Amino acid sequence: MLKKMNKKVFIRSFGCQMNEHDSARLKDLLIERGYAICGSPEDANAVIFNTCSVRKHAEDRVYGKVGTLGEFKIKKPGLIIGIIGCMAEARRDEIFRKLPIVDFLCGPADLDRIPDIIDKIKNGAGRIMYLEGYKSKIIPAFSRKRFTGKTAYVKIMEGCDNFCSYCIVPYVRGRERSRASKEILEEIGLLIKKGAKDITLLGQNVNSYGKGLQEKINFVALLKKIDKIARSAKISFFTSHPKDASLELFKAMRDLKSIVNILHLPIQSGSDKILKRMNRKYTVAKYKKLALDYRKIVKGGNLSGDIIVGFPGETEKDFNDTFNIVKKLQFDAAYIFKYSPRPFTKAAGFKDDVTLKEKERRHTLLLDLQRNILSNKKLLCSRPGLEHSN
Ligand code: 5AD
Ligand code: SF4
Repeated sequence: MLKKMNKKVFIRSFGCQMNEHDSARLKDLLIERGYAICGSPEDANAVIFNTCSVRKHAEDRVYGKVGTLGEFKIKKPGLIIGIIGCMAEARRDEIFRKLPIVDFLCGPADLDRIPDIIDKIKNGAGRIMYLEGYKSKIIPAFSRKRFTGKTAYVKIMEGCDNFCSYCIVPYVRGRERSRASKEILEEIGLLIKKGAKDITLLGQNVNSYGKGLQEKINFVALLKKIDKIARSAKISFFTSHPKDASLELFKAMRDLKSIVNILHLPIQSGSDKILKRMNRKYTVAKYKKLALDYRKIVKGGNLSGDIIVGFPGETEKDFNDTFNIVKKLQFDAAYIFKYSPRPFTKAAGFKDDVTLKEKERRHTLLLDLQRNILSNKKLLCSRPGLEHSN
């Protein structure tokens, strides 16, 4: 009984769906090792923050939250505090230096080690840093023994080889690696058997699925295999890179009954000069053509994008080009971010020459534009018959 009381863990996830998914798997691993998951840090013997490094703001939030745990640690000296995920990789030395209350760091590809890490610390091992997994070529399986519910994420690939000049992901999540299709299909089959109705396939760049696997397979071929076993479940996927999205993918979305017609295709900028500096490997014209092809082939399909404002060297003209393309493309959702220099990245070496005030101005302009686009779309949808009139 006493043993069980010492095994309560609180896990909080920051950032993207991939982190959410990793946290769910970590909970499963800890439960298998006899831990109970608790709903608040006050009740826990171990507190774990699964962190994000994609923008500085995300890191600042974690620093703030960990700071508030100091009090708990004074009241409960045996409390174990772990920082895991992207920030553990990116800020390894800084976290241990700045936050003496943190007991362990563990990278996103090392989560399987966490139960052992906690045991070791309990046995007096001192602070532990485990950050080698990003070099791994393997994505560990998720047993799903405890799955209940209707929605689920399934990881199909992880990591990124694109090295967009602003992005920290390739440095913290490592190189692209895919899971064998057999393993993915088994996991999806089990989830469906247990009642899953909405399944989202996850990867930093799902369109690169299959690269490096022994079997000859690509993303579209995987979707076709999944569609055959999907029954009444709906399958979505996230994220696609415009340089790899293809007509073949759009046709598969149109033809495969289980695939949801939602495409998240981050554009990032409407200026060719900025796209080149971002190392995005496509032009605005190519993106525009893709978006038009998508809308033509996948009738009524939902299209969303990410945009960064205030990238180094972004002039008023470059921003206006972004503004105009957003207006033209009429995204169903647009996620707009202020550029934030990230360690290790190429752009960190560029002069961050757009002031914060100007980034905020551009951010607000785009948000307002997107809000208008959405309210016009809603207006159109709520007037029956309008689409059929001339
Ligand atoms: N600054 C601002 N936004 C960024 N993103 C990635 N890196 C940065 C950065 N350094 C945005 C991109 C990406 C989304 C997940 O986050 O738009 O598509
Ligand atoms: Fe980052 Fe670019 Fe890879 Fe997306 S494609 S994870 S933005 S490097």
